[in-house]
Formats: sequence, structure tokens, C-alpha cells
Amino acid sequence: MDLPPDAPFQKVKFEAARRSGVLTHPYTLSTLAYSAESSPIHRGVFVGRGLLGIAIKPPMEAFTPLAAEQHPNLTTRERVSLQTKPMACSGCHSIMNPLGFALENYDAVGRYREKERAKVIDVSGSYEQRTGAVAKFTGAKQLAEFLANSDETHYAFAQQAFHHYLKQPMRAYGLRKPDELRKTFAENGYSVRKLLVEVAVTGALPPKDTKPPK
Ligand code: HEC
Repeated sequence: MDLPPDAPFQKVKFEAARRSGVLTHPYTLSTLAYSAESSPIHRGVFVGRGLLGIAIKPPMEAFTPLAAEQHPNLTTRERVSLQTKPMACSGCHSIMNPLGFALENYDAVGRYREKERAKVIDVSGSYEQRTGAVAKFTGAKQLAEFLANSDETHYAFAQQAFHHYLKQPMRAYGLRKPDELRKTFAENGYSVRKLLVEVAVTGALPPKDTKPPK
């Protein structure tokens, strides 16, 4: 914040134009980062698994990230891309890295930045959707807009809420349940309160229809 160094502890307003809710909250960004550098990989895994609900396998080995001080001319994005470029890595990393790259305007503690090591940071990212169409976004705002409007996110949210509250997979309540829940969630204007009522009611009733969807 633009405050004198001896300013007392106080409540401040964030730069609203640069923030997109929980995605750019400093807690989210700093938890998904190293102590001195951001981590597009960990941020991308969170967006992929947590928000889009895609399965990303854990790595087969523990990889040590390339040390920033050994690559003083590379941005974090460039360093991560360099390390995960081989075929043995890109199968997984080409899915999650481009999600995390869109959040590179935020450093290890979630502070906004436009440059890193005197270079303008490239915050373009992409995601191949389940339909096969590739979504492109530049920066956190566009990533957030894509996520907020994506059927995949809505589906994943309903599914994870269901799993969290009932400790059962949705399909245990009928093969149509996942799609029904996603639809009612959308019809109710993405009201989390109404979704939770729907989940609770579903859990209290025996499954009605277990025939697969046509
Ligand atoms: C099967 C999918 C998969 C493959 C293949 C894979 N990774 Fe990863 N990698 C991941 C996931 C998932 C994470 C995040 C793990 C976590 O949650 O900490 C990760 C994390 C990392 C990290 C951060 C590790 C840390 O502790 O900070 C590095 C660096 C990395 N991978 C490099 C590589 C390299 C280099 C290769 C190729 C030799 C590779 N990965 C192959 C899935 C993969």
C-alpha cells in the first residue's frame, strides 16, 4: 500500500480493478507460492483441480524447482516453462501451467506487479475445455470471468459441495443427479444457499431414478 513506513496498522481498501475475489486474495496467492517466488504450478493445480474439477495426477517424483538466482534473466514463467518443457513433463504441466501463468501479476505474497526482473510479465493463459474448445485469457480478471461463466466450474462446484456435505458421490443418488444439480444451480442464479438445500434434500430422500441419462 502507498502508506508511510511508520503508518499504524489499519484497514485499507484493495485495488478493486486488479482483484477478482478469492482467486486473487493474498491468502490464496501466498499459500500457493514459495516464500520468495510465486508458483504458477501450484496455482494452476488449484485452479484445475479445485475450481474446474479436473483430475491431475500427482507427479511421479518430487521435483526441485529451478532456483531463481541461477536464472537471473528469466521470469518465473520462463523458468517454469524451461523446466517443464520436456515431453515427460508437458503432458501434465501443459494443462496446469497456463492456468497459473494468468496469475503471474501477483508475487509470492499476492502483491500486484507488472514486471519481474525488469521484464514485462506475460500473463496470457489457456485451457482446453472438455468440449475440446480452447479458452484463452490474459491476466486474473479474464481467467476469473472464464471460470465464473464456465459450465465446468459450475459442475465442479456442485459436485464438490455435494461431496463435502454428504460424503457420498453424486452418482450414488442416480446417474442423472450430477446434471440435474448443475442445472438447478444455474437456474437458481448460482445461489450457494439454494444449492445446499438441494443437496440436503437429496441426501434425505431415497434415489428416485438410477437410469442413465439418454
Ligand atoms: C503426472 C503428472 C505430472 C508429470 C508427468 C510431471 N509433473 Fe510436475 N507436478 C505435477 C503436479 C500435480 C505438481 C504439484 C504437486 C503439488 O501439489 O505439490 C507438480 C509439481 C512440480 C514442481 C513443483 C515442485 C515443488 O515441490 O515445488 C516442479 C518443479 C515440477 N512439477 C517439475 C516437473 C518436471 C521437471 C517434470 C518432468 C520431468 C514433471 N514435473 C512431470 C504433475 C506432474
